[in-house]
Amino acid sequence: MAKKKTILDLQQMKENGEQAAWMVIYDACLASSAEEAGMDMILVGDSMGMIIYGYEGTVPVTMDMSIAHCQGVRRGAPNTYLIGDMPFGAYHASCEDAVNNAVRFIKEGGVDAIKLEGGVAVADKIRAISNAGIVVFGHIGLTPQSSAAMGGFKVQGKNTATAKAVIEDAIAVYKAGARTLLLEGVPEETASFIHRILPIPVYGIGAGSDCDGQVLLAADALGVYKNFTPKFAKKYCNIGEIATQGMRDYIAEVKEGSFPAPEHKYKFTGDRDEFAAFLAEYEKTLDL
Ligand code: KIV
Repeated sequence: MAKKKTILDLQQMKENGEQAAWMVIYDACLASSAEEAGMDMILVGDSMGMIIYGYEGTVPVTMDMSIAHCQGVRRGAPNTYLIGDMPFGAYHASCEDAVNNAVRFIKEGGVDAIKLEGGVAVADKIRAISNAGIVVFGHIGLTPQSSAAMGGFKVQGKNTATAKAVIEDAIAVYKAGARTLLLEGVPEETASFIHRILPIPVYGIGAGSDCDGQVLLAADALGVYKNFTPKFAKKYCNIGEIATQGMRDYIAEVKEGSFPAPEHKYKFTGDRDEFAAFLAEYEKTLDL
């Protein structure tokens, strides 16, 4: 079994030019598959709001929901580097809130680091959490928690003026003490510049190839989530289709009576004649 990574290993991977592969996972079952497959990291993302809870976005996700899912993922993947995702509202009001909630992720959720969305506007929160000794992953570009303010889930940094804003966010996150940065939904040209200037690992989701690693939602990569697949997501298999077919087969077998078959039944090990006699007498006493 591979040793659990540390933030120093992630930094070393960048320096060695080794790509990190991570996925967004919310439950113990998939987490154990990820660990078995050799995943470098798992993010327990607030996209659980859509994928697990069926909301339209990530905003309704709470600290308690996030922590419960981190605990499940940690049980499923005890040796994988785990990142908790600070939900909307968990770090916006004050640095004190930000530190308290980050501490909850570490102490209750069993994670190794936290991630939060935003650049210049949340630099003080990143600094406060980092000063508490907690590893912070920054997340800028298309930040789903601010999708209402952005006018939807929109790619950021597509021209010089907006790319400059993304680059300034990246620098602010780095200077505030974040140990890695995730770029979401930005053109490769913009991501490439940020990757070149920052000494910390820069990861991408919809940010092209010139990064220190990639993250995808397992729900997209494995074909579980049917409502929408973003342009950047590649489907490596189609669990959704396999699951629907499996359910169709199950329904058909239950209805025709071929399930359960003998191999799915428990055996009676007592004396059958004695049991039949008992039932016959017992039934006479019933008043149903
Ligand atoms: O919550 C999430 O799934 C994320 C990814 C988009 C990285 O933050």
